[in-house]
Amino acid sequence: MQWLGICFFLLCSTNLVAFSTNETSFFSIDESNFEENKILVQKNLSSVSRSTQAGEIVDFGSYYPIESGYYYLFNMEAWRSGFYAFNYAPELTLFFARLQKGFHINTAVETGTFFGGTTAAFSYLFDEIHTIEIQESTFLESKQRLKEFPNVHCYLGSSEQVLSQLLPSLDDKRVLFYLDAHWQSYWPLLQEIEEISKTHRDNCIIVIDDFKVPGRADIPYDAYGVHECSLEYIQSQLNKAFSSYLVYYLIPKNKISRAKAVIIPKKWMQPQIN
Ligand SMILES: C[S@@+](CC[C@H](N)C(=O)[O-])C[C@H]1O[C@@H](n2cnc3c(N)ncnc32)[C@H](O)[C@@H]1O
Repeated sequence: MQWLGICFFLLCSTNLVAFSTNETSFFSIDESNFEENKILVQKNLSSVSRSTQAGEIVDFGSYYPIESGYYYLFNMEAWRSGFYAFNYAPELTLFFARLQKGFHINTAVETGTFFGGTTAAFSYLFDEIHTIEIQESTFLESKQRLKEFPNVHCYLGSSEQVLSQLLPSLDDKRVLFYLDAHWQSYWPLLQEIEEISKTHRDNCIIVIDDFKVPGRADIPYDAYGVHECSLEYIQSQLNKAFSSYLVYYLIPKNKISRAKAVIIPKKWMQPQIN
């Protein structure tokens, strides 16, 4: 009995490997570094949408909200409708729509695809979306699912390397960057901004997820070793990417979804966002 218990514990504590059956599918992430990022995504195709004689019922109240913890029920209809965007903060989609329209940005580049929750929402806002993922199993499963959005292009690799290849081909376009590649031992954020500064200086908006909001100790944010995901950490890189800029802190309805820094070139600010 004791052995059974030990085997069960070992099974549960090992990193989950992505696998799928007809009914369920799980994504794996490296849990070794950041306990709070433990996420198990379970696909359940039937709970939100169901057919009745009177018509199709799509009930978004029936999927597990983020409040239920780090284990989520994954539902295709909710995913497709952008419910999982911005780490389960779909209300922020309207702010991104405002950025897209206000600054006439037609291209978005996301680092860290994960299961494409944000990518799906972006597919409704931008003409072309490029999304980069380092984990092959995650990349393959997201790429398969994102096929239904022909304006989404998926790349496998470490974000800073893919950006160095990709960005020269986008250098005539205004781009919204959504930098969200983390959970591995290497955190590419500084190098990502370095690559952006080579091709899109003063010609992009940079959004960074899991950002520290000054004066809001109640909102969680990421930290890697001694480095916090904060303005202080990226400031010297921002000076390469912008001659001058404004920072907005975007706080979701539920702070578990974490805040995003939105960095906008100062020269774009008038009159669009006033
Ligand atoms: C927080 S998740 C991204 C969530 C996604 N952007 C969303 O909004 O739903 C972080 C993802 O970044 C990926 N990742 C980690 N390091 C990376 C790197 N160097 N390059 C690209 N992706 C990376 C991880 O495998 C993971 O899937």
